[in-house]
Amino acid sequence: MKNKKMNRRNFIRAATATGVLAVGGTALWQLDLLRGVRDTALRQFPGVFYIERLRQIVAADNAHARALMWEVTSPVDQQMIELRLQGTEDVRRIAAEDARFTDDGTEVYQYTAELDQLTPGHMYQYRITAGDAATDWQPLYTPTADENYKMLIFPDSQSSDYADWKQLAHLAWARNTDAELFTCMGDLVDNGEDRLQWTEFFVGVKEMQRSIPMVPLMGNHETYNLDWKVRLPEAYLHYFKTPRNGSKEFERYYYSFDYGDAHYIVLCTQQKEIGEFKDGLVEEQLAWIRRDLKAHRKRWNIVFMHKDVLQYRINGRPERTEGIDEDNGRVWMPVFDELGIDIVFTAHLHTYRNRGHIYGFEKTPDAKGPLYILTGVAGNVRYPNLWIDHAFDEVTLPQPETDNYLTMDVSRDAIEIACFLTDGTEMDRVRVTKR
Ligand SMILES: [Fe+2]
Ligand SMILES: [Fe+2]
Repeated sequence: MKNKKMNRRNFIRAATATGVLAVGGTALWQLDLLRGVRDTALRQFPGVFYIERLRQIVAADNAHARALMWEVTSPVDQQMIELRLQGTEDVRRIAAEDARFTDDGTEVYQYTAELDQLTPGHMYQYRITAGDAATDWQPLYTPTADENYKMLIFPDSQSSDYADWKQLAHLAWARNTDAELFTCMGDLVDNGEDRLQWTEFFVGVKEMQRSIPMVPLMGNHETYNLDWKVRLPEAYLHYFKTPRNGSKEFERYYYSFDYGDAHYIVLCTQQKEIGEFKDGLVEEQLAWIRRDLKAHRKRWNIVFMHKDVLQYRINGRPERTEGIDEDNGRVWMPVFDELGIDIVFTAHLHTYRNRGHIYGFEKTPDAKGPLYILTGVAGNVRYPNLWIDHAFDEVTLPQPETDNYLTMDVSRDAIEIACFLTDGTEMDRVRVTKR
């Protein structure tokens, strides 16, 4: 176990040092204004295949499978994935699928591939090829069944200017290149139709997302169109080929996956927004979560959901009371109690709150019920002094809050979650042990 961990870390460090991870051009080339220049300039480097936003997305079973996605600036036929075990020359080729879509007046030339039949506990390398041209090799790791690992957790990154988000995500990754996956808790962008915001969001996780898989969540802002009216989350659903949930109406709205000895359930809390177009999202998830856990229960069972389960009082609105959120808390907390969920991560309120364990809508001194972590804020949309502390809050951050990220270390006997500011200052640490 130790050796393998060191191998992974060393591999990433060596790859970074030699520039192997460099895909695409420099920051200058990201500017749309320079698209024409860029296309012309790139033809000067035959043999190099330039792609953008190359990313790994979690598969249902990450020990054996993974999804890859990327974009090119103009359509390219017959793209392939080449996959090999690190240190070997035997290459497996997988055909890429065209997954282009049009949104915000832009045709996005996007491609995807599903890698399967991988062997657990191995470091692979992959690259994208088109004819004689190829990208550089990228790392891809498959966990063992009892993998000890670290996950990075990012709260709402929605921003008016994504500079703070890019800095936070970049530094979080620089300090944690041994992390094996990362999640973005929803409201990835401020406006779900705005293509420029999506490309800005992806810049923040550029190095991370091609090395380790992403766990995306849909937030309410993914459902907003350019007129700030609610629409279906078209762009979000195209950008992230998350595991299938078997739903006719809500494919990729919610999903689950395994990583090591943990099962993760990613819920969709946008029933109010989606309800303007189609009904049944909550009912369907309530039936699904029971079936899903029956089939996939692991030693640890963890929930990610965008909207929070508690209701907070708001400064200047004395009529608003403290309690349990009616739409999400009343619905889901009894289910989490019943199904023995260990930890629930939420977002949406742009504030960090560790509420400890809650069972039957009550605080329990013996750590009964799930641990509820409200994950904070990772973009520049901050709500200084908006929320009034809830009686359930155990740890809050000094107000007004700046950006934060979380790490989660998963092992057989304990899960340890820590909260950090952008500058690396540790603000909270909590440990959940298996009874
Ligand atoms: Fe939100
Ligand atoms: Fe948000």
